[in-house]
Amino acid sequence: MNIQQLREQFPQLSRTVYGKPLVYLDNAATSLRPQPVIDKWTEISSERTANLHRAVHHIAAEATEEYENTRLKVAGFINAPDPSEIVFTSGATHSLNLLAFSLGEAFVRQGDEIIVSEAEHHSNLVPWQMLCARKGAVLKRLTVDDSGRLQEELLPSLITPRTRIVAVAHISNVLGLVNPIEEIAAVCRKNGVLLVVDGAQGIVHQQVDVQALGCDFYAFSGHKMYASPGTGVLWGRKELLEQMPPMFGGGEMIETVSWESSTYAPLPRKFEAGTQNISGTPTLSPAIDLMRQMPPQEDVKEYVYRTLTEEPGVRLFGTTFDLSLKAPVFSFAVEGAHHEDLALILDKMGIALRSGQMCAEPLMDRLGVTGLLRASFAPYNTLSEAEFFVTSLRKAISMLK
Ligand SMILES: Cc1ncc(COP(=O)(O)O)c(C=O)c1O
Repeated sequence: MNIQQLREQFPQLSRTVYGKPLVYLDNAATSLRPQPVIDKWTEISSERTANLHRAVHHIAAEATEEYENTRLKVAGFINAPDPSEIVFTSGATHSLNLLAFSLGEAFVRQGDEIIVSEAEHHSNLVPWQMLCARKGAVLKRLTVDDSGRLQEELLPSLITPRTRIVAVAHISNVLGLVNPIEEIAAVCRKNGVLLVVDGAQGIVHQQVDVQALGCDFYAFSGHKMYASPGTGVLWGRKELLEQMPPMFGGGEMIETVSWESSTYAPLPRKFEAGTQNISGTPTLSPAIDLMRQMPPQEDVKEYVYRTLTEEPGVRLFGTTFDLSLKAPVFSFAVEGAHHEDLALILDKMGIALRSGQMCAEPLMDRLGVTGLLRASFAPYNTLSEAEFFVTSLRKAISMLK
């Protein structure tokens, strides 16, 4: 598939804003939806809607089959050893909250320690803060350097016999840097510490193999990987998931219920209380099919990286000597210009990008900024869109000087 054929799959790419062609560079916030995803959602909503795992009727069987086939597809996509390790959620935030609750109940006691990197999205920080407050545990910080690089070499010195969990992103939503998960996992394994990986960005830009990564849990959202919003995944090692209590009760997560107590269903249903996202979750399947065919976009990444690092007055965060360790997610500050003003001007030129703290306030504090501008690219963004972004940025900067 070439980039033109790919673009044709995404209806929103042909719309205009303020009479200008849309240049969508806010993919790290959410990607656009391709036609096969829209079609899958419509098909299930219009022809195959029934509650899952419950009724004996024909449509219920079809809907359940569609949902469970999606689980098999997702397991294959991330090389999970067993499809019962795939828990469907409403997104990465749901997955990480579920983990912080259930892991906390199973394994965290007063005085235990949880290590979180300071580059995390709030969704991989706040749930751990809440767990620490609930259990009287201690939250410890794995720092980044001035450019935003995770100082993973400091991890061994942070780990003590009380450390239970390390939580870190595969790829930062601000910096776009790929963290060395295999190395971090090796340190965790050596010390008997569980490793939780926030894969909300990693799943989009890396070929994820959870067994090769060596982590214990991997969480991600469907809407950043072209599937329907309100879908997500938590992968975890079976022996750990089995020891963890459910977070929510009700629906098909039970095995038996009496007035006095209940027992829980086997994995993964134990963690999927209530009516599932019947129409949304199966859209992960066409999204995965499409991702497998997407052309690489190294030229766009190299062009934007080189241009922004060389541009006078622009300070790019998340720099690296090895571009294979950088996703096309570019956060930067512009001397003498406020990020929000620039975003508003660029919007008028048809360019959608993100400005602000990007749900990572502690990282903004560490980098010494109140906010940044972020351009994040997807494989459907062309080199000419990237060039238009650069010339428009220069124009916007000159308007504010
Ligand atoms: C790294 C990272 N983690 C977690 C999240 C939260 O994802 P969601 O809002 O889909 O739950 C995001 C979303 O921007 C993210 O980029």
